[in-house]
Amino acid sequence: MHQPQMMKQNSWLDRRIQSLFPVALVSVLIVGTVRLVLDDLRSNHSQIFQLYGKPEGFKHRKPVFVSEKDRFESGCNVFEGSWVWDNVTYPLYTEESCPYLVKQTTCRRNGRPDSFYQNWRWQPNDCKLPRFDPFKLLDILRGKRLMFIGDSVQRGQFESMVCMVQSVIPEGKKSFHRIPPMKIFKAEEYNASIEYYWAPFIVESISDHATKHTVLKRLVNLDSIAKHGKSWEGVDVLVFESYVWWMYKPTINATYGDPDNIEEYNVTAAYKLALETWANWLESNINPLTQQVFFMSMSPTHLWSWEWNPGSNENCFNESYPIQGSYWGTGSSLTIMEIIKNILQELKTNVTFLNITQLSEYRKDAHTTIYGEQKGKLLTKEQRSDPKTFADCIHWCLPGVPDTWNQILYAHLLQKHQIFCNLKENKNFETIY
Ligand SMILES: *[C@@H]1O[C@H](CO)[C@@H](O)[C@H](O)[C@H]1NC(C)=O
Ligand SMILES: *[C@@H]1O[C@H](CO)[C@@H](O)[C@H](O)[C@H]1NC(C)=O
Ligand SMILES: *[C@@H]1O[C@H](CO)[C@@H](O)[C@H](O)[C@H]1NC(C)=O
Ligand SMILES: *[C@@H]1O[C@H](CO)[C@@H](O)[C@H](O)[C@H]1NC(C)=O
Ligand SMILES: *[C@@H]1O[C@H](CO)[C@@H](O)[C@H](O)[C@H]1NC(C)=O
Ligand SMILES: *[C@@H]1O[C@H](CO)[C@@H](O)[C@H](O)[C@H]1NC(C)=O
Ligand SMILES: *[C@@H]1O[C@H](CO)[C@@H](O)[C@H](O)[C@H]1NC(C)=O
Repeated sequence: MHQPQMMKQNSWLDRRIQSLFPVALVSVLIVGTVRLVLDDLRSNHSQIFQLYGKPEGFKHRKPVFVSEKDRFESGCNVFEGSWVWDNVTYPLYTEESCPYLVKQTTCRRNGRPDSFYQNWRWQPNDCKLPRFDPFKLLDILRGKRLMFIGDSVQRGQFESMVCMVQSVIPEGKKSFHRIPPMKIFKAEEYNASIEYYWAPFIVESISDHATKHTVLKRLVNLDSIAKHGKSWEGVDVLVFESYVWWMYKPTINATYGDPDNIEEYNVTAAYKLALETWANWLESNINPLTQQVFFMSMSPTHLWSWEWNPGSNENCFNESYPIQGSYWGTGSSLTIMEIIKNILQELKTNVTFLNITQLSEYRKDAHTTIYGEQKGKLLTKEQRSDPKTFADCIHWCLPGVPDTWNQILYAHLLQKHQIFCNLKENKNFETIY
């Protein structure tokens, strides 16, 4: 009884995803490609390890003072709550104050007339999120690397994090390098880095290379991760994400075992196999005493306005306010969510799942719409006059929703730091921290 119903629902969802995701996705994929091509040209071909030369001023390992109001109760579900208007403390930075924002995210500069989307604060029902303090984050990251791994949505979160801390670092004490498939921001005096690694499927695929990949054709190597993993080894904080690239069609071409044997896989089956490969990598490469791993839940899309406004037939374009009341879009697959949950539960390595889907679901107002890029360029006047075709309802404007994801990530880092600091009292500090 239960099973056929599930399948019916799934195939219905699949059909919808099949018919409606492509248009939006093509733009996402092209943006991603062009971006990386540009990054490639701009990069100075230096090797990553050269960035980790001997920095100055790291000698003084200052303790981070974690006060009572920095903590959030461990019982509190920070993912349940509501968006409250707060034009006093938000946004946490401005487009002008952050030189590292790419054109894809600077909606206001690209012509978006309203700015309300920048002024909402996420308020959990049962507690308060700690206020973001860039100095504290830098102290936590002293001598460490924080790396975001995933697709272009994840790149938005990376840029948000860089913008949230960079303003407190003086000119000349910070740097930004593009070394495809990575981007690396360094706070020199802290010997701390915030990095991004392009891996849209987490496991290896033909979409991993900056220049040599086709946009629509995709082929995922579900059991291959070693090449990527080399760059993740020893990184202190790893934040993974992968979703929208899988959802282009209900099936996906992939290999497993024999690299010459290409087969069409169910997306859900393929996703599961890929995550298992990733899980195995974690189990044999992560040192839980020195490394922390996070997994971001899917970032929701707002492609179909009839989902929150029955009877309409638009998308996220021209939306200025968050959704009130309960809402979950059909683009956010609970089947995929379940797969992630099951895999994380079986892991020996602790992975913190940041379930940001629900809170972001409300934010139909916060996507780049027609004020982002397509094929590496801002939309033309003609394209802008056709938001039904050209609005991007996948990516987010910055400042915006990804800042909240980072505030939650920060809250977890603070909490963990607190635990390490307590450990210090009875163990040798240097060996753990
Ligand atoms: C902040 O929002 C309030 C309430 O909407 C409004 O009255 C006020 O003018 C706003 N302040 C700024 C600086 O935008
Ligand atoms: C600087 O940070 C890197 C990366 O975390 C680390 O490998 C290196 O040991 C640090 N250097 C010093 C001198 O602390
Ligand atoms: C898989 O590859 C074949 C051969 O290139 C192609 O015809 C088919 O459309 C692909 N399937 C998907 C789901 O992309
Ligand atoms: C996908 O997987 C489900 C459950 O495992 C199965 O019922 C369905 O037939 C599969 N779909 C395709 C297109 O292979
Ligand atoms: C946007 O919405 C407002 C009302 O909410 C409407 O007056 C306006 O015409 C819309 N703009 C476009 C370009 O659709
Ligand atoms: C994430 O949050 C959603 C909405 O609150 C919930 O339905 C889902 O079960 C959660 N996922 C996990 C893995 O906890
Ligand atoms: C993993 O997390 C659980 C619950 O937070 C904790 O009890 C356990 O000690 C952690 N294990 C490691 C290896 O950090």
